[in-house]
Amino acid sequence: MQTEHVVRTFVEYFQERGHRRVAGSTLLPPPGDPVLFTTSGMHPLTPHLEGRPHPLGRRLVNTQRCLRTTDLDEVGDTTHLTVFEMLGTWSLGDYEGPQSLDWGYGLLTEGLGVDPGRLHATVFGGDDRTGPDLSSLELWQGLGVPVELTVEDNWWSNGPTGPCGPDSEIFLWTGDTPPRSTPTHDDRWVEVWNHVMMRHRRLDDGSLVPLPQRNVDTGLGLERLAALLQGRTSVFDCDVFAPWRRLVPTLWPLDEPSLRLVHDHLRSAVVVIGDGVRPAHTGRGYVLRRLVRRVLTLLWRGERSRSLGDLPDELLRHTLDHFRQDVDPDKVRRILLEEEGRFAGLLRRGRQVLARPRFRGPLGDGDFRYLHDTHGLPRDLVMSLRPE
Ligand code: ALA
Repeated sequence: MQTEHVVRTFVEYFQERGHRRVAGSTLLPPPGDPVLFTTSGMHPLTPHLEGRPHPLGRRLVNTQRCLRTTDLDEVGDTTHLTVFEMLGTWSLGDYEGPQSLDWGYGLLTEGLGVDPGRLHATVFGGDDRTGPDLSSLELWQGLGVPVELTVEDNWWSNGPTGPCGPDSEIFLWTGDTPPRSTPTHDDRWVEVWNHVMMRHRRLDDGSLVPLPQRNVDTGLGLERLAALLQGRTSVFDCDVFAPWRRLVPTLWPLDEPSLRLVHDHLRSAVVVIGDGVRPAHTGRGYVLRRLVRRVLTLLWRGERSRSLGDLPDELLRHTLDHFRQDVDPDKVRRILLEEEGRFAGLLRRGRQVLARPRFRGPLGDGDFRYLHDTHGLPRDLVMSLRPE
């Protein structure tokens, strides 16, 4: 089942149940928003979760590209991506959590053919402020799906303040034995769909107040689910990565975790550039810079002559087309190459500076500050340039 087919099935299923499709936004939140990038499908809808009526009504569905830098260090495993697509549904003060979970179960099992025996749910078990989510628990018990109760793992918020609430997550078994154990004890249970009962707002002092309406906000990781439906356990083996898999290993022979990182970071860099970001030393541009420099550090460890200029055109076009970005691939390549040139220059200067006798011994905080402020050499770069 191709990713496009998963998207169509998802959207049509919810349209048949009264949801209207909202257009996904870019990765850039609206001006004035405190976060750098859109990290979840709910993000562009925050004012409507807080009570402002949405022009398309109270039941919505969409696909939203998201970027999560919190997962950057986990990239390289089989389930995390920096840029990914989230399929989302919303009840803006309309139906309640159990209805959402029941539809979720129906779509996964009947709509997408998942064996119900491979499902596990988790539910909020309650803490000193909020009671256990008994209605979700009862729903899962009625459907015969095993449930685990947790506290921190089943509370979702988009940040330290703002809309939040207890959630119920749906996991799929990916092991090659019959399902066993529970999601918090066996990572062969992979989370695919989160349903958040978004009815609280956290204030600056940490307290919770009720939102003006009781919402449900759900998010399903598209590449994760598509990979599992395609019989793969790694997101990098689903169809959206097929051209990367085919073309990159012949260009740069790398081990599997390195290939995953290169595929993830370069694809993310292309999307971020496609949404208008340029490398910079702060903010969004710094995230882009980090993505590109992490790739180059890895590539140059093996062979210094490797260059992003060799990236096949097909990969740039495939990614821009997938995210419907009307951007010239040559422009993206130029931006990547300019950043490569800047990084190469920085490394050259860094090696010269670090060869000075003053920097031969152990470095103190003052040295790191000087190297950063005077020569633009960040601490992690200095560490990577020093002999073992
Ligand atoms: N907003 C929820 C999430 O991102 C659905 O997991």
